[in-house]
Amino acid sequence: MTELVTPPSDADATAKSPPVAVGRVVAITSGKGGVGKTFVSANLAAALAKRGKRVLVLDADLGLANLDVVLNLYPKITLHDVFVGKARIEEAIVQAPGGFSVLLAGSGLVEYSRLSPEVRQDFLRIMAGLTPNYDIVLLDTGAGISDVVLFAVSLASEVLVVATPEPTALTDAYAIIKVLAGQQKRQTIRLVVNQTARLGDGRAITAQLQQVVDRFVPKQPGQPLRLVHMGDIPADPQVRQAIMRRQLLLQSMPGCPAALAIAQLAAKLQEAVMR
Ligand SMILES: Nc1ncnc2c1ncn2[C@@H]1O[C@H](COP(=O)(O)OP(=O)(O)OP(=O)(O)O)[C@@H](O)[C@H]1O
Ligand SMILES: [Mg+2]
Repeated sequence: MTELVTPPSDADATAKSPPVAVGRVVAITSGKGGVGKTFVSANLAAALAKRGKRVLVLDADLGLANLDVVLNLYPKITLHDVFVGKARIEEAIVQAPGGFSVLLAGSGLVEYSRLSPEVRQDFLRIMAGLTPNYDIVLLDTGAGISDVVLFAVSLASEVLVVATPEPTALTDAYAIIKVLAGQQKRQTIRLVVNQTARLGDGRAITAQLQQVVDRFVPKQPGQPLRLVHMGDIPADPQVRQAIMRRQLLLQSMPGCPAALAIAQLAAKLQEAVMR
């Protein structure tokens, strides 16, 4: 089902030759930080699990991981131990309250916030071992266009960019979209607009970004980049409350507007990438 292609071995190749993986691996990323990637990753995983899927969320924000905080999980064995060879992957996987699996980065991964040939190899090895066991793997990445983020995204077959309607989040979303189009030759980038104030915000924002992309992002011959609007998640005070209580919104407040929006996003993502 999932196939990993060995990347070129030179350390500098990342910038030029990703993506390296195909399969149901979805990177959840953003230009600007703090827009809701971790919140979306965790709750989207719960929504997909509720739909009967075997889901794993990998905390790919190696330097500044915080999925553990959101899920209130503090495992003894983490990705760090797997990277340094102290534990096997299976030992580091924990069950989250929402019925999905997580692989947490844990602390002590500062050395992994820079992309070295070792980090690349470790990451590839771990992904190759993981993906066959799940229907879908979500990568909760860091924000921005650092080489670690771009490498993590290069391991995914699908990219879901989280943006908010704030002008700064939009210009930063455009920046990451442009880089992914250029470096990774992405033809489809999915967009979810979080913290919207009005119905239709996300659709309008996607159309606006698409116009900028069409004008300014150099096209691959015959392969224009298409932005696909996957949904809006309204700004909802329940989100903050759930995070403060370290609970999944989908479990604590499944009927609130943001939870309903995430359930819809899961349905749409399943239809789009898991047929
Ligand atoms: N739909 C929403 N409504 C209200 N508040 C929200 C919503 N989504 C996210 N937030 C708020 O934004 C905060 C940041 O979310 P989160 O940690 O998921 O962002 P992030 O993109 O993962 O950040 P980082 O770039 O640091 O990894 C949350 O703690 C929450 O308070
Ligand atoms: Mg995060």
